[in-house]
Amino acid sequence: MLPSETAVWNFVESVVRDVFRAYNFQEIRTPIFESTELFARGVGEETDIVSKEMFTWEDRGRAASEKGQSLTLRPENTAGAVRAYIEHKLWDRGLNKLYYIGPQFRRERPQKGRYRQFYQIGAEVIGPTSAGSESPARDAELLEMLATLLDRLGITGWTLELNSVGTATDRTAFNEALRKALDPVKDKMCGDCQRRAVTNPLRVFDCKVPEDQPIIETLPRISQFLGEDSRKHFDAVQEILKSVDVPFTLNDRLVRGLDYYTRTAFEFTHGALGAQNAILGGGRYDGLSEALGGPAAPGIGFAIGEDRLVMSLQESASAKNVVRTPDTYIAPLGSGMNSEAAKLARELRHQDLVVELGDETFRLKKSFEAATKIGAKYILIVGENEVKAESFALKNLATGEQVSVARGELAQRIRE
Ligand code: HAM
Repeated sequence: MLPSETAVWNFVESVVRDVFRAYNFQEIRTPIFESTELFARGVGEETDIVSKEMFTWEDRGRAASEKGQSLTLRPENTAGAVRAYIEHKLWDRGLNKLYYIGPQFRRERPQKGRYRQFYQIGAEVIGPTSAGSESPARDAELLEMLATLLDRLGITGWTLELNSVGTATDRTAFNEALRKALDPVKDKMCGDCQRRAVTNPLRVFDCKVPEDQPIIETLPRISQFLGEDSRKHFDAVQEILKSVDVPFTLNDRLVRGLDYYTRTAFEFTHGALGAQNAILGGGRYDGLSEALGGPAAPGIGFAIGEDRLVMSLQESASAKNVVRTPDTYIAPLGSGMNSEAAKLARELRHQDLVVELGDETFRLKKSFEAATKIGAKYILIVGENEVKAESFALKNLATGEQVSVARGELAQRIRE
């Protein structure tokens, strides 16, 4: 990632941090690699991520006698955040509103919007039920924050797809119905689906094989299996979203590709992205902490694919103005002018101007070329006479206009 691109990334991250701050989220930084078991137990053995996409290695330790440990580059960060919640007893803090920005790794076939090292901006709300972690208000707050964030970045034309994947109990009945429905047709499906039909039938909905889609279309949907509590929770989320004017569409095929989800599940998609059109995804994971050996700690979160977010932003106007070019280039003239130029640069930089400092060995023509090349607005010439007079030649590189400006007025003049 090179400088013109990193400027856009930094812009995105600064807006994101501002928005997270307004919603009282705080940053958590988890390790880049964790024990393989964490992801197997958290994300689920039968998911594409765990069964096909993890970068895993056996760390043998220093001494030959030491027992090896299987480690994995994190493919996602929810499992790591929940591990940290358990390890550091974060329930003492009540409701935790955490966010992270960082690289994730999945061994997928690279294409536009899909990389093996990609970046996620994510957030998790997790805590004991007594701290309100299960409330539909939390789901709606998170989704409203995402709508605000995309709006603030100038990303238009997104769609929020919403579903409830039910509680573990709802899912037992659903999985049973799926197994039954799949039994007579599974032999016509791809190898993965044949396996999933037996081990984890919900994952059949992750299938991308075109020939399997007509069969998948006929399968029962989770929406028909939601219990009273799940339905009420989901209705409440929708009601708040309507009251805060966040538009959404219901999609009862949306089950998300990770096993930990319960109840609310969602994705934001964007038309301009092509095949990999999910900018972000997330949902509730009310049983994840317990699955990882922790106490009951309902939670909900999301992760934005930052690479995709930047891609959808590149077309929008806000991205074009994020690169800050130098306000002025300082050109010292002749021998011994470097210290004077350095002094001036220091003064101007302390007044929050972006200054590039030239070198006395440059002839004036070369200084002009250098200043133009980096896109500086002005060139400031520092010669012996100027230093004596405390007044400097300042030339606007776009208009060619040159004026003599007193030292004390330089910053203001440049900023105009
Ligand atoms: P996920 O849907 O696997 O969810 O990933 C979230 C987002 O990361 C996707 O919507 C996509 O934008 C981006 N992404 C995923 N894989 C790639 C890739 N290979 N290249 C580029 N971008 C990619 C999760 O990871 C969950 N941990 C989200 C979550 C947080 N759920 C609850 N809390």
